[in-house]
Amino acid sequence: MAVDMRTRYLGLDLHNPVVASSSPWTGDPAVVKRLEEAGVGAVVLPSLFEEEILNEEIELNRSLEQGDEQFGEALSYFPQIEDYKDTGDRYLARLEKTRSLVAIPVIASLNATTLGGWVRYARLMQDAGANALELNLYHVVADPAMNGTDREARDLELIAAVRAAVSIPLAVKLSPYYTALANFAHGAVKAGASGLVLFNRFYQPDLDLESLEIVNKVSLSTPAELRLPLRWIAILRPQLGEGVGLAATSGIHTATDAAKALLVGADVAMTTSAVLQHGVGRVKVIADGLAAWMAEHEYESVAQMRGSATAANILDPTAFERANYMTALRSYSTPADLVR
Ligand SMILES: Cc1cc2nc3c(=O)[nH]c(=O)nc-3n(C[C@H](O)[C@H](O)[C@H](O)COP(=O)(O)O)c2cc1C
Repeated sequence: MAVDMRTRYLGLDLHNPVVASSSPWTGDPAVVKRLEEAGVGAVVLPSLFEEEILNEEIELNRSLEQGDEQFGEALSYFPQIEDYKDTGDRYLARLEKTRSLVAIPVIASLNATTLGGWVRYARLMQDAGANALELNLYHVVADPAMNGTDREARDLELIAAVRAAVSIPLAVKLSPYYTALANFAHGAVKAGASGLVLFNRFYQPDLDLESLEIVNKVSLSTPAELRLPLRWIAILRPQLGEGVGLAATSGIHTATDAAKALLVGADVAMTTSAVLQHGVGRVKVIADGLAAWMAEHEYESVAQMRGSATAANILDPTAFERANYMTALRSYSTPADLVR
């Protein structure tokens, strides 16, 4: 019997719970088409970063000022202004193109630094045909004068402002570093988030020992990283109820990783690193493997399987919380020959 792989995420109907999360690949409409052919249920486009747009504007203004000083040449700048397409325009054009190429839901992603930026681009993304928005909340709170309460209040204000500006579903991609994550997750939903994406992966800078310069190199994830979203989705699913979308991201490389994400209550299992590492075909390997795993374990549908192992459903609900800590430490066993 064929397994019913359909799922609902952010109120959208997906034919498969495997979703391609935000990455440079999802920014190329032709690659998104191939991801669709490989079986993804939806895609999240790369984030549009407000800083990129602002930096471009600064550069443009600078070159225009130079143009004014050289009067004879200045005229030649005007056609360029009309033709000028900034990062934002190009993003929206790619979004429209992607929307026209595929039938699966296309989720646009936005990382802005100002309230105005979030609202403006959120609307433009909606107008360009995005089926939903993902707000990528990414900040490192290094200012000693900024406390957690104020920082969180700002985030909630941003979510509420975007919610008020668009009518499409709104997901919020969270960092795992909130002091009281459950409290913030509830606050995000109250502020208007239709769903949460757990978790944003933070890229830690490295140091080059020769030049003493910072090395900003993205390292891809490993399946071990899935444990963090697993814990929090298991805790949050029963707290937030069925109406709130939950997406697992970080460490989903195989079909069994995706199965775990669904079992703890995620609506979708998002993957990026595995696809960047193995190619677009990885999506089919995960999706087909998931269906096979479900059939083998006698699950008829994603709906039936989803949430079977949340903190509310498992025998020891505290296993996802504090009690797990001591048990995990005590359960480590060292091979006898390694003890000198
Ligand atoms: C090269 C690269 C670029 C990414 N760009 C974005 C981005 O623009 N916006 C975003 O929210 N996440 C971005 N991500 C994060 C992924 O969407 C994903 O959440 C993260 O990699 C964890 O999932 P994974 O373990 O399947 O890779 C990027 C990841 C990689 C590896």
